[in-house]
Amino acid sequence: MDFSVKSNSPDQYHSDCIILSVFEQCRLSSVTEKINKISNSYISSLLQSGELEGKIGQTLLLYHIPHVLSKRILLIGCGQEYEIDACQYKTILQKSINALKNTGSIEAICFLTELHVKGRNIYWKVRQALEIIQESLYAFDQFKTNKIASHLPLRKIVFNVPTSCDITSGNCAIEHGIAIASGLKVSKDLSNMPPNICNANYLAAQARQLANTFSHYITTSVIGEQQMQDLKMYAYLAVGAGSQNESLMSVIEYRGNSTPSDKPIVLIGKGMTFDSGGISIKPSAGMDEMKYDMCGAATVYGVMGVVAALNLPINVIGVLAGCENMLSSRAYRPGDVLTTMSGQTVEVLNTDAEGRLILCDTLTYVERFNPAAVIDIATLTGACVVALGKNISGMMSNHDSLANELLIAAEQTGDSTWRLPLPNEYHEQLDSNFADMANITGRPGGAITAACFLSRFSNKYTWAHIDIAGTAWHSCKNKGATGRPVALLSQFLLNRAGLNKDA
Ligand code: BES
Ligand code: MN
Ligand code: ZN
Repeated sequence: MDFSVKSNSPDQYHSDCIILSVFEQCRLSSVTEKINKISNSYISSLLQSGELEGKIGQTLLLYHIPHVLSKRILLIGCGQEYEIDACQYKTILQKSINALKNTGSIEAICFLTELHVKGRNIYWKVRQALEIIQESLYAFDQFKTNKIASHLPLRKIVFNVPTSCDITSGNCAIEHGIAIASGLKVSKDLSNMPPNICNANYLAAQARQLANTFSHYITTSVIGEQQMQDLKMYAYLAVGAGSQNESLMSVIEYRGNSTPSDKPIVLIGKGMTFDSGGISIKPSAGMDEMKYDMCGAATVYGVMGVVAALNLPINVIGVLAGCENMLSSRAYRPGDVLTTMSGQTVEVLNTDAEGRLILCDTLTYVERFNPAAVIDIATLTGACVVALGKNISGMMSNHDSLANELLIAAEQTGDSTWRLPLPNEYHEQLDSNFADMANITGRPGGAITAACFLSRFSNKYTWAHIDIAGTAWHSCKNKGATGRPVALLSQFLLNRAGLNKDA
């Protein structure tokens, strides 16, 4: 899709489709009013006859509008003119693009970027619009004989902005939006891959591919089981022991800042390419969805692509912690005691609490980078889904200002996140009779106690943990990866790079 920004009057366009807003009680926006005048009140007379009220998301497609050069006009209901919030803006754009898809339009001019959205500027509106459109057009049809998406004729969208002064920030929004939308797409594609194809080796191949594409800034190294032995990453190795597929930790190093003292931000993604639960096997209903247990790694992969595409002036290291949790005579068992890379020992009480076991060794491994901050992203606990549902990611941190930066980025992007506490008192639930700690606690507060476990391996640096068990994919009819939290982390890094255009 080709995106651009212009500042024209709607009657100047000679296009396939112009997207215009109508507010509640059939009030026309000033832009829509211009077209109404030119067309001798064609639009207002249609509205008077009750074709469209202006409620959020209502659409009306018009052809052959008198005295209008463009082929079609798509009218979209936008609710109350000065009451539109971020969420409603999203609905408005989604409905518009869905209606536009069903026309034969090759290109469209979108005037929705001129709406008043509470507390948001042009940069935000253009970038969101672009990301929402790309999201609405996404389809994973790689394994379908009849492809769904590629038949769409739509090739080009112009976002119209109120004045020519808005064009610079509009163009910046397009640059950032294209990079983030593409990060979301590659992340979703990777997550949606079936687990017989997407194993740790496949993740490593993607990581290496990034280094090929961005050879000036990215180097990738892959740590296999032999090196993990040498590093004493015995918890990580134990989880992968039951699988034929080798455990591989892919380390993607992006250098955008050559100042030697510039410390990297490290992103760690849980890359369990399939989580059967191991010997503590999961129930079979819905087990296919455990192919999504690598969405943390897919997020990191997507974000590294964004950082490189925008050539951000910072240093970022992305780690894809690839592994598969399977059953076999070589699988680790309940009762096993593992010595982690940190030297701390863990008693395995449930082989399905495997994410924390690969993450704890990865958290220790990244100490060598002397990180400015470490953020791990993981589909870690069902308890997080119980606590926050499917729309809000859980976040825990040992550092208030890092946590606040992440919450700000969440607010900017709509990639909703809620901070949960890490209380000292909860640590005793990890006590074990046979090792320094157990790998599970009781059910209450399971998202928090999982983070408490991780915090014991991340006390040498500033750290945050994002639990995306609820948010990384949709179930049921719309089953598919969401790409979350690619937008959140990309925004966090844009802000760190001094490129925050929302303020
Ligand atoms: N990958 C799962 C967490 C998960 C479950 C994510 C459902 C999304 C949906 C994780 O490895 C796991 O199995 N966690 C257990 C931990 C328990 C055994 C302490 C869980 O949440 O049930
Ligand atoms: Mn598990
Ligand atoms: Zn898991």
